[in-house]
Amino acid sequence: MIYKTQSYPQIKIIHVILIVFFFTACKNSSQKPIVETGLKNASEFPIGTAINIDKLINDEALMALQISNFNSITATSDMKMNKILPVENEFYWQMADTILYYAKKHNQRVFGHNLIWHSSTPKWVEEKGANDSIWLAGFMKDYIHKYVSRYKGKVAGWDVVNEAFESSGGAYRKTFWYNNLGKEYIANAFRYAHEADPDAVLFYNDFNIERDTTKLNAVLKMVEEFKMNDVPIHGIGFQMHIRMDIPDEIIAYSLKKAAETGLQIHLSEVDIIFNTHNDERLGGIQKYDELTEAMKIAQAEKYKNLVLMYRRIVPKRQQFGITFWDFTDRDTWINGFFNLNDWPTIYDNNLKPKLAYFGVLEGLKVEIE
Ligand code: XIL
Repeated sequence: MIYKTQSYPQIKIIHVILIVFFFTACKNSSQKPIVETGLKNASEFPIGTAINIDKLINDEALMALQISNFNSITATSDMKMNKILPVENEFYWQMADTILYYAKKHNQRVFGHNLIWHSSTPKWVEEKGANDSIWLAGFMKDYIHKYVSRYKGKVAGWDVVNEAFESSGGAYRKTFWYNNLGKEYIANAFRYAHEADPDAVLFYNDFNIERDTTKLNAVLKMVEEFKMNDVPIHGIGFQMHIRMDIPDEIIAYSLKKAAETGLQIHLSEVDIIFNTHNDERLGGIQKYDELTEAMKIAQAEKYKNLVLMYRRIVPKRQQFGITFWDFTDRDTWINGFFNLNDWPTIYDNNLKPKLAYFGVLEGLKVEIE
């Protein structure tokens, strides 16, 4: 496999746009505009993207942008259980290995997403485990041990359990795992991951916790219980799939509450939509058919504020990083998953940086006290 690393024409265009943007944006003459080639160069913490690895390595333009902007990488789906172990006893490591290879070559951190998630549990596990919870408990242990130790020292951190709470409110989600193993499966998953790689940073990851205080409190209560019982949890992942109308004040409050745990905070799956949905597959509600200039400006502002809140509220030593979930509107999961036509990311359909991109860049660069 050959990965090109030379600069590409679109990077030169970015340079020009950046200069223009910063000279116009930094009206305050005390803020010196510094021209950067990518988000990672403007950031004190890792800037990541989730991406489909096959798509990435077969698209030179996409790869050039990925390399220039990001120093952390997450697989959108290639490292989930249904991809790693689609059939009993047949581990498929090839894509994960490719991500590791790519990341090493381009000096990027690999973040593991994820070990246990109801939505990516293979059918064969559900069938076998539904009749035999003793087998299931042993399977979970072996799977995590095998997977995490294979990438020990190479995958920096893991979403150990993903989305273990209901979409809204504070109840544990009644998943296949919960129904067969009880809520203890969550703590056990963390224990097993820690046994396999004591240096890996272990996260609990969920959505809507930036806006639903009941859900956030339930997650924080679980974290407290983990701490009391010496369960090795090191971080909270805010997926941060947000909408333009989620108030920044609520997001700020939630980040503050989570940061008070002292754990690492990862904005793990950032995107910002205009339309809405009911949190279910194909549950999109189309409200806006067109992306207007005013919407582009508002989205840039929202992205900027999100980055600024992260920098201001989360203490530096707890800043694990910000990861975008796909970074182009062409590739975003939102439209296919929710059956929407939206524009949630920082690059447009033609892989050109949107105002949102410059919003992020500004959020990273503005001096804060
Ligand atoms: C999404 C992927 O991006 C899609 O390609 C796939 O079809 C479904 O999963 N929360 C998560 C991610 O934790 O794993 C999901 O990723 C998006 C929502």
